[in-house]
Amino acid sequence: MKVTVVGAGNVGATCAQLVAEKNIVKEVVLIDIKEGLSEGKALDLWQTAPVNQYHTRLVGYTNDYSKTAHSEVVVITSGVPRKPGMSRDDLISINAGIVKSVTENIVKYSPKAKIIIVSNPLDVMTYAAFTAARKPKNEVMGMAGILDTARYRAFLAEALDVSPLDIQALLMGGHGDTMVPLPRYTTIAGIPVTEFIGSEELDAIIERTKKGGGELVNLMGTSAWYAPGAAAAQMVEAIVADQKRIFPCCVKLDGEYGLQDIFVGVPVKLGKDGVEKIIEVDLNEEERELLHHSAGAVKNVMEILDKMHIL
Ligand code: NAI
Ligand code: 2OP
Repeated sequence: MKVTVVGAGNVGATCAQLVAEKNIVKEVVLIDIKEGLSEGKALDLWQTAPVNQYHTRLVGYTNDYSKTAHSEVVVITSGVPRKPGMSRDDLISINAGIVKSVTENIVKYSPKAKIIIVSNPLDVMTYAAFTAARKPKNEVMGMAGILDTARYRAFLAEALDVSPLDIQALLMGGHGDTMVPLPRYTTIAGIPVTEFIGSEELDAIIERTKKGGGELVNLMGTSAWYAPGAAAAQMVEAIVADQKRIFPCCVKLDGEYGLQDIFVGVPVKLGKDGVEKIIEVDLNEEERELLHHSAGAVKNVMEILDKMHIL
């Protein structure tokens, strides 16, 4: 079984490394447009195999999509990352062009691949990939919800001095400041989070989560990669190992949650067929309003992209 990661930069290389270390596929192919980069990163990573004890073969190629043929899953991280002062939406025109051409190349050689988009602005790039791929909607999805939920869970674990393993949480909406963490669906070992924390402190954690990506951009001068790479690798694992995991992922909605023709994060079941089910949880009026507000923000950027006539 083969997994391809397009973009051998920070997120792509991290994702490739983690997928390889999981020992769940025979080969991980790294592809990048920059001459020698994926060859070098794949070689360096492959040389960790004897130390980190895995068998997965890592190989890298410059822009040669024939080497990606028959991939089971493809992760697209190619694009330009955010720099300080840039919003995710500033990336739209550059990354849409990249995502479109990469997706077309991927589908040419792996028509059945499940495609996971990571490039930003995430929800709109998932739309771009879906449009370019001309594939069933269960085969094209975006990674953001696992990352955003992980940030929320990590902040909670720190504040409550509990293991992050015991924190279960749900977060919906677009990958941006309008994302919707849901305290009503947040538990610590099954106990509602509100038993552990006051509303003021919880609100502060929710606000920090919404700006979690920006916090890291300000610290590092570029966007994060360890947690994003890990989150994408977790989606790959759920699909190739047919785990039927439930994660928030960006998918096309056709009426679910009262939303039509929009790409936004909602809980889904991931297995060998990709997005095997979109799960509709009960939302109260306030939560539904927040989700619709977030979806509206995504829709605005989808419309901006449509007007650029790139797709
Ligand atoms: P990076 O700059 O380290 O890597 C991007 C790579 O893409 C570079 O190596 C570049 O040469 C390559 N590339 C550019 N055009 C290409 C093309 N046409 N074909 C193949 N490769 C191409 O950036 P990083 O940090 O890895 O981020 C990648 C993307 O992921 C960015 O758009 C970033 O905003 C996004 N991101 C999304 C997250 C999410 O939660 N969805 C989280 C973190 C980053
Ligand atoms: C992140 O959330 C920038 O989308 C990227 O880290």
